[in-house]
Amino acid sequence: MKKVNVFYFVASLFVAVMLIAASCTKEGPAGPAGADGKDGVDGVDGVDGVDGATTCTECHDANQTISMKQFQWEGSSHAAGNALARSSSSHCSSCHSHQGFVISDGNNPETVDTWEGVDDPIVITCYTCHPIHTTYTAEDAVALNYDEQPNWAVTHDKTVDMDLGKGNLCSHCHQSRTRNPVVDMNDLTAMYTGISTHYGPHYSSQANLMGAFGAYEFAGSATYPTSNGHLGAENGCVSCHMGYTTANGTGGHNMHIDAGSDLEKACAQCHSAGAGAEEKYLEYYHEVFATIDHDGDPTLNTTSYYTRLGDLLTDFGVYTKVVDSVDGFPEAVHYNINRDLEINGTLTAAMFNHRYLYQDHSHGMHNPGYAEALLKNSLEAVEALK
Ligand code: HEC
Ligand code: HEC
Ligand code: HEC
Ligand code: HEC
Ligand code: HEC
Ligand code: HEC
Repeated sequence: MKKVNVFYFVASLFVAVMLIAASCTKEGPAGPAGADGKDGVDGVDGVDGVDGATTCTECHDANQTISMKQFQWEGSSHAAGNALARSSSSHCSSCHSHQGFVISDGNNPETVDTWEGVDDPIVITCYTCHPIHTTYTAEDAVALNYDEQPNWAVTHDKTVDMDLGKGNLCSHCHQSRTRNPVVDMNDLTAMYTGISTHYGPHYSSQANLMGAFGAYEFAGSATYPTSNGHLGAENGCVSCHMGYTTANGTGGHNMHIDAGSDLEKACAQCHSAGAGAEEKYLEYYHEVFATIDHDGDPTLNTTSYYTRLGDLLTDFGVYTKVVDSVDGFPEAVHYNINRDLEINGTLTAAMFNHRYLYQDHSHGMHNPGYAEALLKNSLEAVEALK
């Protein structure tokens, strides 16, 4: 019995050690579940979040508010971006691309330090002119970026204070660029060389002509008007260029005025509610700017001040006159600047004025009285050189 007891004792000890060893790595079976705890106190209800999409329909609506503007804009040269590729140059990006305009803070590069070329430019879009997707309400399309007067790159020492209302946005880009040489009007006999075949204020002299600055004012028989009746348009550029729309897509967000069909609407703010505008334009155009007479078989016009000054500068070797013709009839007239010019101040300034009015592209409509006086007096100054 004793032997057996010892055996059992040793055996149980062995089993006990094994169990202890095993219990170090394995848990025993779970005991019965305890009683349920007390229910927690209910939380406070949160405030409903704002529906982020409610104001989107102020613009993205079934009236096609945006599509309509897009449709007009798509046909414009803002959308076409003919000169977009030049935006990789810091000299051009601020007016010829959306990003460049934003980088330069809406400034003509010649007036500020911050301007850069853009390698992935996009054209002038809704976002260029409006703070779209800022408050995400309709207000973003009513508001305009850069609605103050811009820095003016070229004033020729005139003091300029020209508030065009909503048109202030436009004049940030539609203003003259600086050009060398700058003519000294106190010494018109001084000679100038190094004149580029692109000389002139660039195709953006519109705001300058409206405000009558950035050209060379020769003394002469014509008096420069002290005011411009067309500055009476409440929102400057916007009143004439956007104040109406047509079924063929001009006006509105297209911004182009077709002088052949739109004047009654574009000029409706004044001139007997637009009724006399077309005749007024034609009479003025024929006398001051025409290069071709379109009545019947087109012939060259040789009497307008614009043509006479161009022809005279051609006689002085400043320009080469080129006439495109179709079926033997003149179609368009170009005055191209000759290379390697060495000319005096009178010829340089008169040529600049001719380019200033040509590149404005409005045939004087931005300031009829001033444009006419500028051409007449420039013509007289060059005639006096003969
Ligand atoms: C001020 C009017 C306006 C409001 C309000 C507005 N949008 Fe837009 N949205 C626009 C314009 C303008 C465009 C650009 C159209 C174009 O590129 O031609 C645009 C474009 C878009 C696009 C196309 C992608 C893009 O960025 O070009 C989306 C998506 C969009 N909006 C969503 C919204 C949402 C979501 C809301 C509300 C949270 C909203 N929009 C509120 C005017 C608005
Ligand atoms: C201050 C703004 C401004 C700057 C800077 C500028 N441009 Fe322009 N440019 C304009 C405007 C505005 C027009 C369009 C006027 C019009 O349609 O009558 C234009 C028109 C043009 C056109 C004619 C486009 C066409 O086919 O009708 C060319 C080409 C051009 N620019 C090239 C350049 C180049 C190259 C540079 C840089 C060296 C440059 N521009 C810098 C404002 C600017
Ligand atoms: C070159 C600048 C410019 C661009 C680009 C432009 N807008 Fe405008 N937009 C204006 C100006 C200026 C007004 C004010 C017009 C007025 O008062 O007659 C305006 C007005 C508006 C209005 C409100 C007034 C109205 O006529 O109903 C809406 C909406 C609008 N733009 C949408 C757009 C959309 C969408 C795009 C892009 C497809 C766009 N705009 C591109 C300058 C611009
Ligand atoms: C960011 C610069 C910029 C702003 C802002 C701007 N424009 Fe332009 N505009 C241009 C350029 C650049 C062109 C010529 C584009 C091209 O040919 O590549 C042009 C072309 C035009 C044209 C010729 C249209 C056509 O289809 O023949 C008109 C008209 C015009 N702009 C009017 C306006 C008006 C009005 C405003 C203000 C509501 C305005 N622009 C604002 C840069 C600008
Ligand atoms: C009194 C009305 C009036 C005002 C104000 C006005 N324009 Fe014009 N603009 C015209 C007319 C009309 C033409 C077209 C003349 C033609 O084709 O012979 C024109 C032509 C142009 C052109 C040439 C391209 C095109 O579409 O024919 C540009 C660019 C232009 N204007 C921009 C501007 C800018 C920028 C402003 C403001 C600084 C402005 N305009 C103010 C009436 C106006
Ligand atoms: C804000 C009012 C206003 C608007 C808009 C306006 N005009 Fe005038 N316009 C005048 C005034 C005032 C004069 C006379 C003073 C001057 O020459 O500056 C004038 C002068 C003219 C002249 C010079 C010939 C003359 O009788 O002395 C022509 C041409 C002309 N306007 C055509 C137009 C055309 C075309 C439009 C539309 C594109 C237009 N005007 C829009 C007020 C306006």
